[in-house]
Amino acid sequence: MCIVLARKYRPKNLSEIIGQPVVVRILENAIRMNRIPHVFLLSGPMGVGKTSTARVIAKSLNCEKGPTIHPCETCKSCKEINEGRGIDVIEIDGASNRKVEEARRIIESMKYPPLFSLYKVYIIDEVHMLTMEAFNALLKTIEEPPQYVKFVLATTNMQKMPPTVLSRCMILDFKKIPELLVKKHILEICKKEQITMQEDAAMLISSLCEGSLRNAEMLLDRTMSYCGKNISLKDVENSLYVLKEGNIQAFLDAIVNGNVEEVEKWLEKIESKGVDIFYLFNMLLRRIEIYIKEKVYPMEQIIGVMDVFYRAFMDMRAGVDGEVVLRTAAYKACMVKNLVKIEDVLEEIKTTNKLNKQGMGKEHKIEKKTTQSKGNLQTENFPVVKYILEEFDGKIIGRL
Ligand SMILES: Nc1ncnc2c1ncn2[C@@H]1O[C@H](COP(=O)(O)OP(=O)(O)OP(=O)(O)O)[C@@H](O)[C@H]1O
Ligand SMILES: [Mg+2]
Ligand SMILES: [Zn+2]
Repeated sequence: MCIVLARKYRPKNLSEIIGQPVVVRILENAIRMNRIPHVFLLSGPMGVGKTSTARVIAKSLNCEKGPTIHPCETCKSCKEINEGRGIDVIEIDGASNRKVEEARRIIESMKYPPLFSLYKVYIIDEVHMLTMEAFNALLKTIEEPPQYVKFVLATTNMQKMPPTVLSRCMILDFKKIPELLVKKHILEICKKEQITMQEDAAMLISSLCEGSLRNAEMLLDRTMSYCGKNISLKDVENSLYVLKEGNIQAFLDAIVNGNVEEVEKWLEKIESKGVDIFYLFNMLLRRIEIYIKEKVYPMEQIIGVMDVFYRAFMDMRAGVDGEVVLRTAAYKACMVKNLVKIEDVLEEIKTTNKLNKQGMGKEHKIEKKTTQSKGNLQTENFPVVKYILEEFDGKIIGRL
């Protein structure tokens, strides 16, 4: 049977959890000293090891030799948890069990002590999805559960958790996995799978996975199905529909230089080749970061382009059509080069005004209507508007 890499390579103990040194250290010490809080909250982005760690905690607590940081992997409890079917480890998907009735059912089931193990471990994934009523029902239990109960809550969105619950948890913050570690992990998997992969191919996958090892493993799955036993950079580019790095640079250069014709050509090529827009945004933003570091273009120009693309990427993630977002962003970013800085405009206004006061410039009077509108505006919040109103109250200067 073909098992996807993400399942096949799920970490089995703390030493196999990659890129989360702080979390691992806290857990190792807590288990070693047998000072295990009754509620953990594992928080962090997608695919960085939260569910895996929740299971590792359960295994460490319930192993026949436990609590231990080296679960034996052979006892009944270890085996069952590895297969995702431990009787004393109850996994609940918070997203599909949101209601208060479900919370009450959990509380009810806690009356019965564990059947075979030291602890009954409740793992609630995506816990932020519970309703407020469900959280309230659980609050008291979370604060003082029976001695044999441990909770491991996991969430990708801690902001949505009620503070009352947060204050009762030991929070473990999971981070995105650094690219070099992802690359190393990918090459290790390839070795185990007896596949040769070029380093730059692994690097491209790790740069596209957004810090998520699960994403990286899924991308690797896709490339392996496409290529077989030897994987080159070109294979990854083709299987994932990504533009070559050199082309990314050429497209970005055309944008930063405001070369609309060239940009149009690139957009047509991207559309006709069916390039994956999500990865394209990823690669463009990374290239922009490199340009910023290497000071390839004037700072305000490149930051302006980054701002346009970053917002566009967010729009796309929120569901707006990728091709439309890309096209709009590319044209908008082309204009950044010709934008005038507000400081320059103000400087010019100041100079012109000085000349006018000295009677040297042209000046047209208009009715003093603006005085009234000035009164209605809360100009303190808009220093530029405030300045202009103060300086030009009732006047229009010829050149403006
Ligand atoms: N820190 C990690 N160390 C080793 N493998 C990892 C790590 N993070 C993710 N993985 C790999 O990705 C797979 C999925 O990880 P896991 O389910 O633990 O992520 P998660 O943080 O719970 O994601 P989600 O928020 O989407 O539920 C694992 O089976 C494993 O192959
Ligand atoms: Mg998970
Ligand atoms: Zn064991």
